[in-house]
Amino acid sequence: MEEKTYCAVLTGATGGIGRAIAAELVHRCRWLILVGRNLAALQAMQAELGAHAIHIVHGDLLQEETLSKIETLARGLGGINLLVNNAGASEFHAFESQRNEQIAQLLQTNLLAPMLLSRQLIPLLRTSPRAQIVNIGSVFGSIGFPGFAAYCASKSGLRGFSQALRRELLDSRIEVRYFAPRATATPINSAAVQAMNMELKTAEDSPAHVARQLMHFLKDSRWERTLGLKESFFILLNKLAPALPDKAILGQLPIIRKYLPK
Ligand SMILES: NC(=O)c1ccc[n+]([C@@H]2O[C@H](COP(=O)([O-])OP(=O)(O)OC[C@H]3O[C@@H](n4cnc5c(N)ncnc54)[C@H](OP(=O)(O)O)[C@@H]3O)[C@@H](O)[C@H]2O)c1
Repeated sequence: MEEKTYCAVLTGATGGIGRAIAAELVHRCRWLILVGRNLAALQAMQAELGAHAIHIVHGDLLQEETLSKIETLARGLGGINLLVNNAGASEFHAFESQRNEQIAQLLQTNLLAPMLLSRQLIPLLRTSPRAQIVNIGSVFGSIGFPGFAAYCASKSGLRGFSQALRRELLDSRIEVRYFAPRATATPINSAAVQAMNMELKTAEDSPAHVARQLMHFLKDSRWERTLGLKESFFILLNKLAPALPDKAILGQLPIIRKYLPK
């Protein structure tokens, strides 16, 4: 029997990784607030996971009203000690023909929304003896990849935000951390991305694996974790000798271009 350590907020709860995280977290939570835009899916999860411990907030994270609703509910329950900013969006597209609204939406969802929700909940997190904000980034937050310029920018920004806020709060009881999955089998990846990943032989994790690794991460002391040995090595190489990943990706460009939406 797991200790019920957390009082948590999880965004993107009805998505592929979100559902898997919720299924793991529920055993470790005194209460768990699931946030999402699909009310029927949230209610079904609440019924399935146990209505007594699960609370739901239905809303769009790009609306300030949703952030206030989350705070009000969390305060009413007695506070929180964990915020998992997991909601995210992606679009595989050539940057030069990607729509401005789409670029803005990616940056708002993946970067601005977690920043604003973190800020909204910091006063409440401060009232716990020990609290964590965990931002779900991506391997693409540390490796720029063709077809994902806006997504990479948003996740790289999220990593920078996480590190800066972490340092700003070093003398507080709130720890800010960054957890970066590699490719994972969820609906965020379009059919074209899935086919491209197959052809590029990109390793893919299951959401359940990502969620289990996140549970380990919640208990360890590293500020950042990237999933996948090969991906971690590639990130290091990208820092030390970026010309090498440039060359490897140049070799992959014809395949990548084949799958880019026309
Ligand atoms: N899957 C991968 O390959 C992969 C790899 C690395 C990192 N990640 C990251 O992992 C996280 C979870 O992604 P996933 O793979 O589980 O994708 P997913 O299945 O598409 O789930 C994304 C979730 O975010 C929610 N969301 C998006 N925009 C929102 C908004 N404005 N307001 C409220 N909720 C919003 C979606 O809600 P709706 O259901 O209402 O659309 C959905 O529940 C993301 O941050 C993603 O960038 C994923």
